[in-house]
Parts: sequence; structure tokens; C-alpha cells
Amino acid sequence: MSNKDETMTNTPSNSPSRRSFMKATGALAAGVALTGRSAAGAQETLARKGGSPAVTFPADRHTAVMKWPQYEPEDREIVLKILDMDIGRMYDHLPQLEKEWCEHNGVPFSKAHCNGTAALHSMYFATGFPPGTEIMVPSYTFYSVVVVMRFFGYVPVFIDIDPRTACFDVEDAARKLNKNVKAIGPMHSWGLPCEMDRICAFAKEHGLMVLEDAAHAHGASMQGKKMGAWGDMAIFSFQGTKPLPGIEGGMGTYQKREHFEAASVFGEYRDPPTLPADSPYRKYVGTALGPKLRIHPLGAALARRQLTVLDQRNALIAAQVRQLNDRICRLPGLAEPVCRKDQQRVYYSSNVLFFDEGKAGFSRKAMVDALKAEGVKISSGDYPEQHKNVIYTEAQWWHHKPVVQELPGTTKINAVAVNVGLMRVEAPELVDQYINAFEKVWAHRKELA
Ligand SMILES: Cc1ncc(COP(=O)(O)O)c(C=O)c1O
Repeated sequence: MSNKDETMTNTPSNSPSRRSFMKATGALAAGVALTGRSAAGAQETLARKGGSPAVTFPADRHTAVMKWPQYEPEDREIVLKILDMDIGRMYDHLPQLEKEWCEHNGVPFSKAHCNGTAALHSMYFATGFPPGTEIMVPSYTFYSVVVVMRFFGYVPVFIDIDPRTACFDVEDAARKLNKNVKAIGPMHSWGLPCEMDRICAFAKEHGLMVLEDAAHAHGASMQGKKMGAWGDMAIFSFQGTKPLPGIEGGMGTYQKREHFEAASVFGEYRDPPTLPADSPYRKYVGTALGPKLRIHPLGAALARRQLTVLDQRNALIAAQVRQLNDRICRLPGLAEPVCRKDQQRVYYSSNVLFFDEGKAGFSRKAMVDALKAEGVKISSGDYPEQHKNVIYTEAQWWHHKPVVQELPGTTKINAVAVNVGLMRVEAPELVDQYINAFEKVWAHRKELA
């Protein structure tokens, strides 16, 4: 399942970070290829059994390389400046962020929200669907994507994920289509774009709205078009673990003016008088149509500053993942999610890999434990499977009870995924030590079986 050739294109070879990183690591990587480290690893005792750990990088620097978010003096400066501003001026960051988000993502309309969950509320409201409408979403997602539907009388249809990618499986969507389904909600798991060309074609064929969940995928693109720009509407989260961390915050993006206006007036009471004279929502001055969901000015300011470094950060992280995965995904049983040549992925939270115990010849637990002892930041993948939660089995919470079925791709991913820590600061030496650690553990796999 290794997909080295396809993923080679993930990071633009001409980006400045990529260039400097390759310069810094090129000689090292070449040296690595010549030394036959696997054989050397077999001579060394596993750290689990009292040997020296393969990762000798100082612990405090290791933590600093992995740390997220990475705020810099410029972030501190922008936050402190706000504290000294006139209260009215603080809010200027909101429309500025929305404008910059539109420009960066190539979308006509954006609305900043206090978090991604709030953007989901506004997006569902803006669909205008009647209660009883069913929306296809992955079960492999964050709870609020599904639970928020309740407030509009919508009901989830859980769609499986493709075990090669951990992303939305459009073939499963085709199997589960029914007359109540009016929308489809792909989620770009861990920053890997869903196959948006196939999903949008499927949606078009069946008259479905595409509600994209880009909460993991700030800056990712496919065929040159950003995630969040493919769907009729999309949401992003700026929560502090996300590729664009505003500590808390979110964004909705909209292709059509009518959706933008509905979403705005749902979540921001100040918006009705700002709309054009012919807007059907202008008359709701004084009440708007829903709760107050706008972003905090500090979150907006941080998000604006983080947007200026997003592409550079994404490129650096991806370059270090490439350097690591190109080596370790040659080991039997270890593979990375398939990324098409026309997709440019980003990395959210961790470098998720798939481990096939049969091919590797030892268990995931033994592998994770052995690598942890070597000093690698790694854990078994374990992401929510919504369809297994009790709320979806009780009719009282829903317009009508969701149909809950087995989702083998989803269950499989959680059985095979491992999360390797992301290196967010340039650290070629640490990349090399991680490669060493993996090769050392694999050299001992018979012993670990
Ligand atoms: C896939 C997905 N969608 C939506 C959200 C909601 O975002 P927020 O936490 O900003 O409300 C999250 C948050 O983790 C998420 O992971």
C-alpha cells in the first residue's frame, strides 16, 4: 500500500522551506542510504530491553520541535496591541480576516465564527432544508459535525471511509443514497484532501449540496483548488491544535451570496444592516436570526497572523514527513495514506500511518511500545467513530432515528493507524534519528513477534 511515488509530489519542490530543508538534509539522507543501517540496528539492543535509545535528541528540544501551536514574537505583538486599542477598533480584525481568507482560499464569501462548531450551525441553517432532511457524513469525525444537525431536524447518514486514505468513501455514499438525502459532507482527514472531483460529480448527478468539512485541511488543495473552495459551503476550525491555530475560532466559506447572507444573519446580529438593499435578510435588523457566534477579536487577530505563515509552515512540516516516510514506508507492513498526484496535502495533528501486522510480522502494540522506548513520539491511532455512540441509537434526539450500520473501513482504520509526531521546526537530525529508530525496531521484529 506504500504510495511513495504518488506522495512525492506532496510538497512543492520550489518552496523556500523545502529548498532549505533539502539542502540541510540532502547529504545526511544520502549518507543514511549508504550505511545499511538495518543491519547495524540488528546488532543494537532494543531500548525496551535495556539498550540505548535510537533518539538521542535532547528532550527539551524534541518537545520544542513537536510543539503546536508555534507562536512567535509577531503573534504576541498583535495580541498585545489589541489590548491597548479602542474597543470598536478591536473588531476591525473580523472583516479583515474574512477578506484575507477569501483571497487565500479563492472563495467569494467567508464568515468568521467563534469556532468550527459555530460555523457548522450557520452552514446547516443556510442550507434551508426542511426538518427530516438526511445529510451524508463520515462516522470518522468530530461529534459536533453530527450532533449540531439535531437543532435543524436533520439526520445523519453515516458513510464509511476508504481504508486507503481514511477519507470519505463516495462508493459507500452511492450505496446509501435515498430520497431524503439532500447533502454530502466530506471531511479531509488529517489534512489529506478527499477525492473532491469524484464527490462533486456524484453530488451534481444526484442534486446534492456539498458541505465540506475542512477543519483539518487549511491550505490543502487538489488540482490547484483549495479545500473549502470545492463545496457549496465549507467550514474550518481555528482551534489551537489545527494547522491554523487561533486558539479558538472558525470560518465558514460560501460560493453563493444567498448562503453567505443566511449564515451571516444567523450568527452575527450586526450584519443585517450591512447587507445590500435587495437582500431578503436586511430586514432582520435588531434581532438577526440566531445566536451570537462571531469570533473573538483576539482569535481573529491570531488567525490573521497565522495565515501569513500557513503555507510556509505546511511546507516545512510536509518536507520533514516526506524525508521520514520515504524511508520508513519501505519497511514491511508500514504504509502511508494514498495521496493522488493532483492533491497537495497538509498534515494535521500527526503523521498518520497504517500498520499491517500480517505483513510486518509483529503487533501494533509491540511496535508502538518498542518505538516509544527508542524515544519516538508515537501512539496507536484512535479517532471517534460516531456511529458507535449512544445518542445515535435513541430516537428521542432526532427527527427520525438515524440508521446505524457497520462501517468496516472506519473500524479498520482505527485498528491499523499509528500517529507519529509531526516535526514543526526544521530538525534534520531528529528526522534521521526517527528513521534509525524505526529501522532498528524492524530489525528486531522477529524478537518482538
Ligand atoms: C473534523 C472536524 N470538524 C469540525 C470540528 C469543529 O471545530 P471546533 O473545535 O473549532 O468547534 C472539528 C474540531 O476538532 C473537527 O475535527
